[in-house]
Amino acid sequence: MHNTVICPGSFDPVTLGHIDIITRASKMFDNVIVGVFVNGDKHPAFSIEERVAHLQKTVGDIPNITVMSCDGLLADCAKELGASAVVRGLRAVSDFEYEFQMALTNRKLNPELDTVFLASDAGYTYLSSSIVKNVASLGGDISNFVPACIHDEIFNRLNMKGTE
Ligand code: PNS
Repeated sequence: MHNTVICPGSFDPVTLGHIDIITRASKMFDNVIVGVFVNGDKHPAFSIEERVAHLQKTVGDIPNITVMSCDGLLADCAKELGASAVVRGLRAVSDFEYEFQMALTNRKLNPELDTVFLASDAGYTYLSSSIVKNVASLGGDISNFVPACIHDEIFNRLNMKGTE
């Protein structure tokens, strides 16, 4: 039985697509750890503390969800945290190759670690953190893309038009 799972990501910034996957996972598993990884993009728009805070504000009140920053290999973090599976969302076929490669690598590194893919909600298949950054940087409306409670914080940071 998978009692504890980890939802890893960069979350730079978190989108409504991520929130959908995390909340659905919280209904399927006893404990969900949202692991915000420090490595990945060397120049994130938001610091690790900010990304953790965004997720805390959005899903931190759900009793079986724990948000934390993670460093190093996902396979090692999962082992240390007692997570037996990784949960990732799949938006489209284009996600598959990278996700499959990660899943198999993680299982090679930690044979106890499985990966569970959740089909993204049809309404979020187009959505990504990069799209949010791009749209907001040009002053576009991102209110359909990010949680309302952190919208202003995210928009104000990313909107380059506001600083021209
Ligand atoms: O939200 P992202 O950027 O798609 O998340 C990618 C993430 C953080 C899950 C991935 O880069 C990762 O697992 N990083 C930790 C380092 C690691 O374990 N690398 C080997 C994975 S094959």
